[in-house]
Amino acid sequence: MNQEQWTAMDEFLTSQLLPQDTALDAALEASTQAGLPAINVAPNQGKLLNLLAKLRGARRILEVGTLGGYSTIWLARALPADGRLVSLEVDAAHAQVARANVERAGLSKTVSVVLGPAAQTLEQFVADSAEPFDMIFLDADKRSYPEYLRLSLQLSRPGTLIVADNVIRRGQVADHASTDPDVIGLHAFFRQLATNPRLDSTAVQTVGVKGWDGFSMTLVSN
Ligand code: SAH
Ligand code: DHB
Ligand code: MG
Repeated sequence: MNQEQWTAMDEFLTSQLLPQDTALDAALEASTQAGLPAINVAPNQGKLLNLLAKLRGARRILEVGTLGGYSTIWLARALPADGRLVSLEVDAAHAQVARANVERAGLSKTVSVVLGPAAQTLEQFVADSAEPFDMIFLDADKRSYPEYLRLSLQLSRPGTLIVADNVIRRGQVADHASTDPDVIGLHAFFRQLATNPRLDSTAVQTVGVKGWDGFSMTLVSN
């Protein structure tokens, strides 16, 4: 099995299940034009995030790692009219592209992109006793996932769904001896998921247009 087949299968699924979408296409086009890396979630993964947010009945969503706002748009579309999505991004150019994409998608009333290192922004939300989020999507620098999870739990309530992208990294995460800081971060992240009694988790591998990777899903309780 190879990348060509995974891509062909993703193209089949996307052509069957996802209608043409001007705002999402334009978001990717603008991201490419601006020189952003093509590390957004795949279309069918974006739709999965959208469905999970709807299943959760989410009214408040937190995203860590905006890039050009592609996953942001998928998630924000799942919200009711008075819902809110806050997305955290450290790179000013990424944030600028994302805000324009969100605006073009008609979601600027729902979405705010907060510029700055995510850990600092999250600390600030905790200090401000921000209202808890119903769903949290972790997708920024993988080495910081342990810190993002620790802070996310302070911004969660019983029933919050936490999804983390890129927890497989082409199988690198199975290497216990890895010295890659991102892999080491993911090892610590999995230990937190496994040992915190408030957390009920699984993780699945995926193949597709984005290669071999995967995501974790966690339900937070008291
Ligand atoms: N969620 C996006 C992809 C995000 S890519 C999508 O699927 O469409 C990861 C993003 O995290 C990049 O834009 C990168 O600039 C950002 N990032 C990296 N380190 C960060 C940090 N410390 N704080 C906030 N954002 C960070
Ligand atoms: C990278 C980041 C992502 O969020 C992703 O989905 C794929 C790759 C990266 O930093 O390489
Ligand atoms: Mg990702």
